[in-house]
Amino acid sequence: MCGIVGYVGDQEAAPILVAGLKRLEYRGYDSAGVAVLNDATLTVVRATGKLRNLEGKVAVEMPKGRIGIGHTRWATHGRPSDENAHPHTFEGVSVVHNGIIENHLALKAALKAKGHVFASETDSEVFAHLIRESQRAGKSLPEAVRVAVSQIKGTYALVAITEADPTRIVCTRESQPMVLGYGEGQNFIASDVPALLEHTRDVVFMDDGDVAVVTKDGVELTDRSGAKVVRKHTRIDWTPGMAEKNGHKHFMHKEICEQARAVADTLRGRILRSEGDVHFDGWSMTEAQVKAMDRVWILACGTSWHSGLAGKWMIETLARIPVEVELASEFRYRDPIVTRSQLAVAISQSGETLDTLAAMREAKSRGATTMTLCNVVGSAMTREADFTVLTNAGPEIGVASTKAFTTQLVGLYLLAIKLGRMRGTLTKEQAQEHLTSLAGVPKVIEQVLLTEAKVKEIARKYMHAQDFLFLGRGPMHPVALEGALKLKEISYIHAEGYAGGEMKHGPIALIDEKMPVLVVAPQEPRIHYEKIIGNIEEVRARGGQVIAVVEEGDEHAKSLANDYIEIPKTSALIAPLIATIPLQLLSYHVADLRGTDVDQPRNLAKSVTVE
Ligand code: AGP
Repeated sequence: MCGIVGYVGDQEAAPILVAGLKRLEYRGYDSAGVAVLNDATLTVVRATGKLRNLEGKVAVEMPKGRIGIGHTRWATHGRPSDENAHPHTFEGVSVVHNGIIENHLALKAALKAKGHVFASETDSEVFAHLIRESQRAGKSLPEAVRVAVSQIKGTYALVAITEADPTRIVCTRESQPMVLGYGEGQNFIASDVPALLEHTRDVVFMDDGDVAVVTKDGVELTDRSGAKVVRKHTRIDWTPGMAEKNGHKHFMHKEICEQARAVADTLRGRILRSEGDVHFDGWSMTEAQVKAMDRVWILACGTSWHSGLAGKWMIETLARIPVEVELASEFRYRDPIVTRSQLAVAISQSGETLDTLAAMREAKSRGATTMTLCNVVGSAMTREADFTVLTNAGPEIGVASTKAFTTQLVGLYLLAIKLGRMRGTLTKEQAQEHLTSLAGVPKVIEQVLLTEAKVKEIARKYMHAQDFLFLGRGPMHPVALEGALKLKEISYIHAEGYAGGEMKHGPIALIDEKMPVLVVAPQEPRIHYEKIIGNIEEVRARGGQVIAVVEEGDEHAKSLANDYIEIPKTSALIAPLIATIPLQLLSYHVADLRGTDVDQPRNLAKSVTVE
């Protein structure tokens, strides 16, 4: 969603702000802007559309000054336009805001009655007016920000500068991410770490209610009441290169190709081969708690929910605990039966997805132990969960999730082994076998990536299809769902994922010669293989086009399909991870051939921090 940057130091602010916003482009946006202070003169430049439009304006007349704020906006209140782009400014106060002000209409009406004139359709502009109103009453910028946020109902990451106080930036947050970057003689603010990496690795993740006053010489952190607070500094290991394309045409392609490395990093330090066990830093459940556990909840959205569905297979198979996988947006609004003897696992790449965060809070408030399987250290979920297992995939920039999915599957597999060992459902020798297969996954991923040329040919053949069906059974059902999600989100082709057994209950009516059906058909578990072969025959009998993902040497499946992609033979629990990769490549190449905006597909945002 929206991105925020802030800078104060000895350098010209505008180029730093624009470069920072570029690092946040992946979050999705439809307009952008910067505001820069030069002594007591504020210059604001805004542009609808891609950042290059803003860059063009800044290049013509660069706003001078060494302190400033910038923003990429993803429209919620008011269409994308220059007027609705942030920063919003009123009488020398300029603000950028992520989040939603629920009571903005009432606040606007009250301010209008006092003579305020609004220049945009946004809720966010209210902040500039509220701050100015307090300044008129003699309050300092930090005080005015405190008063402003005390009047609003909603969520915010808010950053403000003012002509009346031209050396300080004030920022605060509530349910929206905000991170401070510490430099020498300069300091930074951002909604997400990639915007800071070029300048510093020394960061502080702000907590809800924190108010930061940032100058070039330091940062003063207080809580809502003004009392000083101390927050832990975190050192970010990600290199700037990890957030760059490294010669790939798109981030998504780079991220698909680096999955062997990402999986190796997720496994690193966790496999205790001789003990047949798994080590997680920060694991806080005792053997007694795990033995008494009667249910695991998995709470997630989108791709992370699909990995959760595969995780159910892993945990139920190895640890024999019932697992409920819930869409976080549904879970948070029902009355789930959660008890103290349950574990709730929130899965999220970003750690900031509002629905997942709210679902995790709901589970916690009902007594469950909470764990997050997350990729972003310091994110809201990692701060609120009882403990965290990091996926270590490195920054995922493409909106379409790829390496986050495969590393989540690895994390879930490790979790299943750990729970199985603690509950005694898995012997040391059995665990060792699983760990050996997992350790071999990076090599298998490298092999499966070699299918790319063939996948691209297939993409060329089917790129004009209007609809696509993806079928899988058992642990391959989530893979089918994920394949369909990938294709639809980046190529805009209508695609649906189904469990093979459901085909006769409806989707079979869609099959004709124009309908490509991608069938994921590894040979294990055998019972699923036999049934999915039956599905392939049903599709062919009705003139449908079958693209089959089959295991090497499976001549029977190959002979039935119109096109096939061969993947190495693996076990039933590893196969989802491997079989997903050709599907990611297929979506990528179809989208690239159709010329869509692969990394930032229309209407989508990388991290969905609003409902
Ligand atoms: C998948 O490609 C999407 N980007 C989306 O479904 C995503 O997985 C979902 O929004 C959840 O995000 P999270 O993992 O950051 O919580």
